[in-house]
Amino acid sequence: MSDACPDHAVAVRDVFGIDSDLVVPAFGERDEHVPEIDEAYRFDPDVTLALLAGFARNRRVLVQGLHGTGKSTHIEQVAARLNWPCVRVNLDGHLSRLDLVGRDAVVLRDGQQVTEFQEGILPWALQRPVALIFDEYDAGRPDVMFVIQRILERDGKLTLLDQHRVLRPHPYFRLFATANTVGLGNVNGLYHGSQRLNHAQIDRWNIVASLNYLAPEEEAAIVLARVPELAGKRGSELIAAMVRVAELTRNGFRAGDLSTLMSPRTVISWAENVGVFGDVAVAFRLSFLNKCDEAERQTVAEYFQRCFGRELAESYQQAVPA
Ligand SMILES: Nc1ncnc2c1ncn2[C@@H]1O[C@H](COP(=O)(O)OP(=O)(O)O)[C@@H](O)[C@H]1O
Ligand SMILES: [Mg+2]
Repeated sequence: MSDACPDHAVAVRDVFGIDSDLVVPAFGERDEHVPEIDEAYRFDPDVTLALLAGFARNRRVLVQGLHGTGKSTHIEQVAARLNWPCVRVNLDGHLSRLDLVGRDAVVLRDGQQVTEFQEGILPWALQRPVALIFDEYDAGRPDVMFVIQRILERDGKLTLLDQHRVLRPHPYFRLFATANTVGLGNVNGLYHGSQRLNHAQIDRWNIVASLNYLAPEEEAAIVLARVPELAGKRGSELIAAMVRVAELTRNGFRAGDLSTLMSPRTVISWAENVGVFGDVAVAFRLSFLNKCDEAERQTVAEYFQRCFGRELAESYQQAVPA
């Protein structure tokens, strides 16, 4: 990857359609780590301004919100428009400190086996003009959180203890994180493996932004942009009803009635599957219902009935044999 630096500025008003005079630095070239632009993407103004402050002013930004609200893609889509290289790391319980920092490995050098330090993703990113995104920040193991806390300090240096090296961050290194729960831990037992973020951990982030689900009209517009076959009056009514079902699952999730919710991603694949199977109920079963706990399928079937005015056939509420 190149060691380029930002070489021009873009106007937030023009590029993100947000009412702001802010201009932010951007790279001239797109390297392989720059995410693809999603033209149908809708930017939440507050979260986007927070992220832009992160890029422009080197603020550490944590984005929180329920599953599928667009936390990770918001960061990626901002980066995509600034041509800012971007790397995502999921902090789920499997990632260890050594995965992050690096470890000694035996390699072959001139026919000889030698032990060499192979740097992990953190030292790699830290020394480059890269936006590093920690996904599922609230699921990180304590040993991993300990390392991250230190780079969140003001000077952000990373000490590789075993290596006797201190790494300084590249001036265009940026750090972001996303979390389902901030400070609340595992609400209603819904986010397994999420730790309660303590005050000291949250306090190290300069900006904490919150993302909610899109307004129904906006979500419908996104679905339509992805599945243009559904253009027209009937298609629009269909999408509106699908988005209503999704909304009911999210309310049910918040209330603790459901353990699975329908994310915008699922609504999009449901809409695509309507085209594949030619029937909204069949597509619903295959895109969402089969992912739900059997004990909750009756509730989900009722949501469908409320939004479509037709029963979901009983057989759909049972697991489908493989
Ligand atoms: N504002 C938005 N505009 C367009 N698509 C969105 C938006 N928010 C979410 N999506 C879509 O919803 C899906 C889930 O988004 P993602 O960023 O993975 O959510 P999260 O990280 O909050 O779980 C993605 O496929 C994304 O394209
Ligand atoms: Mg995410």
